[in-house]
This record gives sequence, C-alpha cells and structure tokens, in this order.
Amino acid sequence: MSKVLSAVAWPYANGPRHLGHVAGFAVPSDVFSRYMRMAGHDVLMVSGTDEHGTPILVQADKEGVTARELADTNNRVIVEDLHALGCSYDLFTRTTTANHYAVAQELFTQVWKNGYMIERTTKGAISPSTGRTLPDRYIEGTCPICGYAEARGDQCDNCGNQLDPTELINPRSKINGEVPEFIETQHFFLDLPALAGALREWLEGREASGTWRPNVIRFSLNILDDIKPRAMTRDIDWGIPVPLDGWREQPTKRLYVWFDAVIGYLSASVEWARRLGEPERWREWWGDPEALSYYFMGKDNITFHSQIWPAELLAYAGRGDHGGEPGEYGVLNLPTEVVSSEYLTMESKQFSSSRGHVIYVRDVLSRYQPDALRYFLCAAAPESQDSDFSWREFVTRTNGELVAGWGNLVNRTASMIAKSFGQIPPAGELTDDDEKLLATVREGFDTVGDLIGRHRLRQAIAEAMRVVGEVNKYVTDQAPFKLKGEDERERLGTILHVTAQAVLDCNTILSPFLPHSANAVHTTFGGTGEFMPMPRIDEVTDLDDGHPYPVITGEYSHTPEWASRPVDVGASVNKPTPIFTKLDPSVVDEELARLGGDEADE
Ligand code: MF3
Ligand code: ZN
Repeated sequence: MSKVLSAVAWPYANGPRHLGHVAGFAVPSDVFSRYMRMAGHDVLMVSGTDEHGTPILVQADKEGVTARELADTNNRVIVEDLHALGCSYDLFTRTTTANHYAVAQELFTQVWKNGYMIERTTKGAISPSTGRTLPDRYIEGTCPICGYAEARGDQCDNCGNQLDPTELINPRSKINGEVPEFIETQHFFLDLPALAGALREWLEGREASGTWRPNVIRFSLNILDDIKPRAMTRDIDWGIPVPLDGWREQPTKRLYVWFDAVIGYLSASVEWARRLGEPERWREWWGDPEALSYYFMGKDNITFHSQIWPAELLAYAGRGDHGGEPGEYGVLNLPTEVVSSEYLTMESKQFSSSRGHVIYVRDVLSRYQPDALRYFLCAAAPESQDSDFSWREFVTRTNGELVAGWGNLVNRTASMIAKSFGQIPPAGELTDDDEKLLATVREGFDTVGDLIGRHRLRQAIAEAMRVVGEVNKYVTDQAPFKLKGEDERERLGTILHVTAQAVLDCNTILSPFLPHSANAVHTTFGGTGEFMPMPRIDEVTDLDDGHPYPVITGEYSHTPEWASRPVDVGASVNKPTPIFTKLDPSVVDEELARLGGDEADE
C-alpha cells in the first residue's frame, strides 16, 4: 500500500469548462484515483480553480465585473460541473484562499533566500493616461516577424511566435487604443539554469523508470537544452503580492499566475489537512520519499509540470547549483509521473469558445448521463494522440456499447432473476463453462487494473467491455430463458447465480469508469448503501479570512476492494429499470445545429 497523490490540473476560471478541458485532466484522474483506492492505496486527490492572471482580468473587464466576482462565478460553475461528473476529489479548492496565498509566499520567500530568484530590470508598458501597467496581452500591434496587424504583446496568433511587446510595430493598448509608454520595471526571474542539472538528473531517473508517455518525457528533456531564467513576477494588480519588503506594498507587482497555480497542489493538500483538524497530515504525501505523485493535465501544461514546478521544488529545498536549505515544509517530493493528454477535438476541429465551436460540460450533463460522457471520454481518450468528439460517435457508442452491451446484460440478468426467483439463487454444481466464465471475469481484475494503473484507459475500458461481452455470450449460450421445466430449475438457478456473480464482478471492474451506474447496478441486485463513494459539495468559510466558497470533498474510506466478492445469495432482485438511457439518433442533428462556428471559419 502506498501514499498516492493525485494532482489534477487546476481549471482556469475565466469561463465555464468545455469537454476538451475535462477530457484531458478530470476523467482520467478520477478513474485512476478511484482504482488506486480500490487497490488499497491511500489516495489524496486535490485540485481547485486557477484564478489569477491576465485572462481573468481581460474577461472581467469585458463583463464589467471585478476579477474576484468573475472568479467567484466561474469557481462555482466549475465546482458544480466536476461534482456532477462524479470526480472524487478529497479537496477541490481555489487559488484565492488565504491559505494558498500563505503557502505560495512561503515558497517564493525560501526560493529567494536560497538565491534562485534573480532581480532584473526589464521594459514594461504603462498606459500614459491612467498610469496603470499594461500586461503584454493588453498590447496589440504589427508582428515584426510576419507583418500580421493584430499580434499581441506576448505572441502572434498568425505565425505563432513568442513576442516581447517592445518588438511590436505601432503598439497600441487594447483597452483604449493609446500608444503605450515603455518604462523600466523590476522583476524576479527564477534561475532555471542553476536548476537545470538537478532537473536533468531527476528527469533521466524518470525516463529510466519507463513509465512516462514517450512524448512527454522527450519533450520535457528537450526543453532543458535552451533553458533560460524566467520571470516569476508581473506588473498586474490581480494576484498574490510579492512577499518582500519594498514589493509587498506595491499594488501592481504580483506573482506570475503560473508560479502560484502549480503551488496549489501543495496548498490544497495543506488546506485538506487543516480542515481535517490534523494540520500536519499532508506531509505523508509530500515528505515521504516513498510516496507517489501523479499529475494529470493537457499537453499545453507539460512545461509547467515537468520544468517550472519541479524547479520551484528543487529551489525551495536548496537542491540547485546555489545550494541552500529547505523552508518550513521540508524537502518536498518531485512528481513521480506527469500524465499528460493530447487534445480532444470537436467534430474534427479545435474547440473555440469565441467562435461558439464548443460544448460546455454543463450542457452535456443537462441532457445526457454523466457516465455516458465518462464512458466516451475514456473509450476515445486523447491519450497518446489527439482524438475527436463527434455526436455521431457519442450516440453510436452509448447505444451500441453502454446500452446494448453492458446495460442490456444487467437488465436481462436482473429481469430473469426477478421473474424466476425474486432473489439471487444459490448455485448447484458448476459446469466447466460456469467455472470458465467466472475465471475469465476474475482475470479481468488483473488485466484492467494493470492498464488503469499505467494510465491506458482506452485499452482498459475496451478490455472491461470484452469481459462484458464474454458474459453476454455465456448467457446466450446457456440460454437460461429456455429452461422452463421443474427438473431444470436447479440448473436455471445455477446459471443465474453464475451470471449475477459475473455481472457484479464486471460492475466492480467498471466502477472506476462508471461510478454512478455502479451504484445503480449494486442496488438492482439487492445491494444496500453506496457502492462507489460519490463526492459532495460543502460550503465552507476560508480558514483564515472568512470569505466563503464551495469545495468538492468526500468520504471515500468505504471504497470497495478491487476484487471479486461473492454474491449475496437471497438478496432480493426486483424487475429492473434500465440503467442507461438509449439515445435517439435525432440527437446528432439537434446537437450539430446547436454547434456554432461551423462553416464560418473554414
Ligand atoms: N489553469 C491551467 C489551465 O487551465 C492549468 C493550471 S494547472 C496548475 O491550463 F497546476 F498549474 F494549476
Ligand atoms: Zn507573426
């Protein structure tokens, strides 16, 4: 049994999240965490909303609200969506808590004390009329590389090059069109070159473990080659103050959003322990070198998880070229594995909120079952290459696999038992076919479990459904529905007993993927209480300053074991109601009609 940290990427709170977002981090991390608990590990699963940075400010301005109001609104929407999807966080919090501020500032301070924050003078833009600083993204101008007239200060969306706002030709403010003034400004840069040796050593160790996806380890090693110091502060008035004298008081100097966001994994663990009333408990997942940590995200986040976050941790511990010593949290574990997904596209094109080529999690969940969505996102997961969400595929797979494959097996088994016995019958003598089926299903625990543990959910769910197919075949071959005579009753009971055993074992195997329906199947076969624990939303007050917010949390200690358990002979089984809803093919056209941005941008 190990301590396992499931560190799930923090959704950015500038708007509601769409399917592309949750395909990459939410569903894979939940399937893994649920499985690891079932396999006996002590899992701590944390995340929250990422609420600082320029995109929040830009969106808040657009909506005429403050950054905090915008973050409050989207934090709640995201919490409700992830809860409805059944994601079993121990704590899903946010980056605007006083606890997070304190932890982020402690990390910054120690990294600075250890000599890994270099102060440098750079050029920054301000608005001459207001005197406010203009973040790079607020500046627009002609790209010096390709001549595109609407390049942003941080990058050109036409040629994709990273830019510095001072390089733009005819720079202007996006807010009021005026020409920005460039002044000298001070910033702290993380001395990544002084940490490159330690980073490489760690990454080479990870490469040798052979567990990371090849793309992810290769990319992570490659970006070490031209590593440069990177600014960890910004001229912005929304974010965490820089905890140093002469900086703290400045309203427009803040920590860079990515510097603080990755610290969320640690601060959320600390908050979880504090809320439990055992404020040191988080150390079991962070301070014990034997503890494992898995970080789940989309591929655009790899740099921050395989370079910036480990660099912050190494610098905090004083493990780079400048030496140093750890702060009050001690030496903290580096990631065991960065589990990064590729992208999900929507009807073969990139998701785009601005063009309306998008479907939000909320909208899917208002019309379809959460487990239907979870099933699709696992079966067609963008694991090692991009994959596509199409409504046609969604309907086909839901109806063909979930409804006709698994749902129908549950339904016909329960119906036959209800009709003939009203309860799970005892087994008589088992035939070779009976034994063979039970063994096939039991082996499923090993094959499926091994695949989930290695983050191969596509294969894992396909293997689980192959086992379901074997059970369906057994029922068809044994044809219990044909056994009508009194002298065939014992054999009928045996077949139905064996089938119920196989179905309930399949239910256990499928439960990390389909937790909601796992509970429904459990109840169908006379089970009581909750089989797979589900998360809940708690309204809490901030531990330090009283600002209330919703969190996702849960009690998962009664998670069932990842093993076959004997059916409960005599448990009552009534005529079942179908577990999964069959979708009408008209859904495809309805959904496609809702989808915007279709031909417009071709
Ligand atoms: N907010 C980022 C995104 O949506 C992810 C941040 S992960 C974190 O892409 F760990 F840094 F918070
Ligand atoms: Zn360009």
